[in-house]
Amino acid sequence: MAVLVTGGAGFIGSRLIERLLRRDDAQIVCLDNYNDYYAPALKHANVAGFETDPRVRMVECSFGDAAAMRRLFDEAEIEFVVHLGGYAGVRYSLENPFPYVEHNVGGTTSLLEAARHHSVRRFLLISSSTVYGRYAVAPFQEDAPLGVPLSPYGASKRAAELMGFTYHDLYRVPVVCIRPFSIFGPRLRPDLALSIFAAAILDGKRLPLFGDGSIRRDFTYIDDFCDGLESALTADGVVGEAVNLGHDEPIAVRQVITTLEEVLGKKAEVERLPEKPGEMPVTHADLAKAKRLLGYRPKTSFVDGVRRFCDWFIASRAAHQ
Ligand SMILES: NC(=O)c1ccc[n+]([C@@H]2O[C@H](COP(=O)([O-])OP(=O)(O)OC[C@H]3O[C@@H](n4cnc5c(N)ncnc54)[C@H](O)[C@@H]3O)[C@@H](O)[C@H]2O)c1
Repeated sequence: MAVLVTGGAGFIGSRLIERLLRRDDAQIVCLDNYNDYYAPALKHANVAGFETDPRVRMVECSFGDAAAMRRLFDEAEIEFVVHLGGYAGVRYSLENPFPYVEHNVGGTTSLLEAARHHSVRRFLLISSSTVYGRYAVAPFQEDAPLGVPLSPYGASKRAAELMGFTYHDLYRVPVVCIRPFSIFGPRLRPDLALSIFAAAILDGKRLPLFGDGSIRRDFTYIDDFCDGLESALTADGVVGEAVNLGHDEPIAVRQVITTLEEVLGKKAEVERLPEKPGEMPVTHADLAKAKRLLGYRPKTSFVDGVRRFCDWFIASRAAHQ
């Protein structure tokens, strides 16, 4: 199977590629532009384990280059696309909305165009739980009405989904919109709360807590999420659908801090700060559709996931110091 993974040097993309390489027939294109939203050195470290594998073609370019994407799809005879690339931070999008429109909406469109002209067997468009927006009723169901997204990031993901569904409707591009819920584990992005909190605790610095810590997130372990992605590549009945991949067990930010303190064996020095705009009070995946269509069953508890994340986090900091 020839699979294009966009954002292949990122947190989720690099883990997915490692998993796909367990298959004998895997031919992977790892596409990334190594942008500096966070340190490119971390992205280079993410791909170190597979960049010289003869079954992996490393391509450094933007998927926003429509002509390059058309050439790539033809040359590499792409059969499956897992479109993970993009700008992923909620808070950054409040101050810097333009890259979200350029990459998440415009760039996604150039991939859909390439997929339209070079027909593919499946196009997984990785969206986000943020598309549920304001006043969404938890647990979030894929086919219930969506609210207005609370950030330009959420709006860009919703726009990309709409583009995907339109390409499915008009041109039969076999799009599946996957909605991830707070994926975490080794290689987690440094801009996410778990990374920021772990660094503050280990360094004995103040841990910034925006609001009272009652916000809840449906934390989902990376390997459970990748199980869902792999099923979605071949499952019947999912094309043209949106599917949640979450854990169905929202955890309060306060609890996240307590768990990190326990796992790291050190107390946090919490600094309470005013609540930030853009954040949903809760995210919570209804998994009935993922179970029915993908046989999806998340297996990793939050505590076990945090242990594995912390082991990696400590080793990675030592390697980059
Ligand atoms: N991590 C989560 O909890 C989470 C939750 C919901 C949705 N998502 C979505 O999952 C996807 C992957 O997230 P992640 O956490 O691995 O993020 P990440 O930032 O680690 O990975 C994204 C990668 O895309 C690359 N990229 C960005 N624009 C590009 C372009 N135009 N051309 C080529 N490469 C480009 C970046 O360099 C980066 O390596 C994103 O689309 C994100 O919105 C993630």
